[in-house]
Amino acid sequence: MRVPLIAANWKMHKTTGETRDFIARFLPLVGDVRGVEMVIAPPFTSLTSAMDALEGSDVKLAGQDVFWQESGAFTGEVSPSMLVDVGCRYVIVGHSERRQYFGETDDTVNRKIAASLAAGLGVVFCIGETLQERESGATFDVLKRQISDGLKGIGPDGLVIAYEPVWAIGTGRTATPDQAQEAHRFIRDELSGLYGETARSIRILYGGSVKPGNISSLMVKEDVDGALVGGASLQPESFADIVKFSTPPT
Ligand code: PGA
Repeated sequence: MRVPLIAANWKMHKTTGETRDFIARFLPLVGDVRGVEMVIAPPFTSLTSAMDALEGSDVKLAGQDVFWQESGAFTGEVSPSMLVDVGCRYVIVGHSERRQYFGETDDTVNRKIAASLAAGLGVVFCIGETLQERESGATFDVLKRQISDGLKGIGPDGLVIAYEPVWAIGTGRTATPDQAQEAHRFIRDELSGLYGETARSIRILYGGSVKPGNISSLMVKEDVDGALVGGASLQPESFADIVKFSTPPT
């Protein structure tokens, strides 16, 4: 059984005060939610205030990025153990914005995943094709390369995959549930090639313009195990609705 995971990726949004305010409004909205793992990834500067505000709740904290070295002269970087130290349980690695704007490659992603897992963090490993790659029929080749290079030498424990078609991020253009399922199935088959039966227990999240209005249609798909949510995670009400609509009412 794969427990659904719904993660908020706040990107470069929210001060410490806004973070505390969000959490104070969000927690009462999800107080009776069961059977879904909830994760929030604020900017580094808000991690400590988020941790304080989340005390006593089931909501977990994630970093949005990490560096692979433990310490040293790496101005601006944060290590896996520093994320653990402030209470993070997960880290997002390889987000397409990091690949696009900050020179992240399959190799740097691979190092970050290895170091994060070694430090005991769960990793949300992001992959996905651009519009041009999809239109030229390269989607599966791209996913295959991102998986094999990103996961080189890496075991399955602590791993979560986020399939985020780049053309669907922040554009309001969501992959259809069938497109998502097709990609997720392909990803699971690739993971089976690497890890055998264990691939069945790895969660594959969908990301890209997820909203309260489309989460249920995505979550009913067999290989969609949760969501990585950007824009719609910035308001407590809409993020809470996504969390609630991610599982069928019992
Ligand atoms: P979006 O972002 O929900 O705003 O499309 C998703 C993401 O980039 O993780």
